[in-house]
Amino acid sequence: MDKISMKTDIYLGQGALDRLMEWRNQRIFIVTDPFMVKSGMINMLFERLHESNEQYIFSNIVPDPPIEIVTEGVEALGAFQADRMIAIGGGSAIDAAKAMKIFAQKILNQHDMPFVAIPTTSGTGSEVTSFSVISDKKKNIKYPLVSDDMLPQEAILDPELVKSVPDFITADTGMDVLTHALEAYVSTKANDISDALAEKAIKLVFAYLPRAYKDGNDLEAREKMHNASCLAGMAFNIASLGLNHGIAHVAGAKFKIAHGRMNSLLLPHVIEFNADYKPGYGKEESNAAAVRYAEISKSLGLSAPNPKSGVRSLVQAIKQLQKQLRMPQSLRECNVDEALLEEMSASIAEGALKDGCTATNPRVPVVSDIVGILNKMFQY
Ligand SMILES: NC(=O)c1ccc[n+]([C@@H]2O[C@H](COP(=O)([O-])OP(=O)(O)OC[C@H]3O[C@@H](n4cnc5c(N)ncnc54)[C@H](O)[C@@H]3O)[C@@H](O)[C@H]2O)c1
Ligand SMILES: [Fe+2]
Repeated sequence: MDKISMKTDIYLGQGALDRLMEWRNQRIFIVTDPFMVKSGMINMLFERLHESNEQYIFSNIVPDPPIEIVTEGVEALGAFQADRMIAIGGGSAIDAAKAMKIFAQKILNQHDMPFVAIPTTSGTGSEVTSFSVISDKKKNIKYPLVSDDMLPQEAILDPELVKSVPDFITADTGMDVLTHALEAYVSTKANDISDALAEKAIKLVFAYLPRAYKDGNDLEAREKMHNASCLAGMAFNIASLGLNHGIAHVAGAKFKIAHGRMNSLLLPHVIEFNADYKPGYGKEESNAAAVRYAEISKSLGLSAPNPKSGVRSLVQAIKQLQKQLRMPQSLRECNVDEALLEEMSASIAEGALKDGCTATNPRVPVVSDIVGILNKMFQY
């Protein structure tokens, strides 16, 4: 038996930010990153918040937020006695705010205050998920936290906020969306509802990510990618993820590669592993994951006369997309040292096997499978 809950009210489309005009007499704790303050984007909030509200801005968030910043935030949150919390920024700001919220509830016995997530990247889907990823920078480890208490009450998806995202971050975060949707689609926990969400997200990424990358001011493409990110988040909140994220959490922290970029580097190799794909034109039996990937190929209008061809078409389409987005396609291009990779491969593999995301992967990996994937990723 599956249960699907939809807790988050979603305000979307141009003008969605006007939702902020409706609150009165609130003490609002705002979590964001320094870019939002320096660039003046934070003023888009202040222009809409009514003067009867009082605000506190916590703007120390850095990418892949470390536990120390979460602790600082919990202290500030306790001192301010907020009625409401807003996280505005990329996945890092939203994830850090989620962790602050549950730790404040647990440690300070704070009430369960309304939490509003306003993403400014189209990537993590964190505005609709029970997940938060926090880093331990000393140990170079990322911890995925999972709790329904972290689900935002509201998500505001206004494409105006994403226009300023630089092209390379548009590419990285967009590939995170694609990875979420594909992993949810082949997850062992996938069902008809998560499939529908994932399928739509995948179609939107292939149609609109190149446009959003090419012209950041293309508001239609930005809006579609913002929606795709949210759809993919909803899909994996139901079906969870897989080995791609399992490896990305560990390897991304070790090699200091942005989350979406790490996922992108892994994606062709993890698909081939899951589908047990071997090159050549043999007609050997295909596994269930290969059949699922071929369904996606068909829905994208790619050649998929049989599962094997469907998998090949999907992998080719992903590599083509990476080229369009001028993304690196190997660890070598990301300046990862070959000797360091060799030294770390086994421990990365062990970490990936323990990561919660790996549990729902369609094919059960062992250490040597993951080491093999990492080696292939180095060469491309
Ligand atoms: N909670 C989840 O379900 C989930 C899922 C996937 C990834 N994550 C985590 O989310 C984090 C990554 O989030 P992200 O990819 O959104 O990146 P991010 O939040 O780390 O932001 C990346 C960079 O983009 C900048 N930025 C953000 N919005 C901008 C804008 N509108 N204009 C210009 N620059 C902008 C930020 O200042 C930052 O420098 C990682 O820690 C990852 O592990 C969480
Ligand atoms: Fe992700």
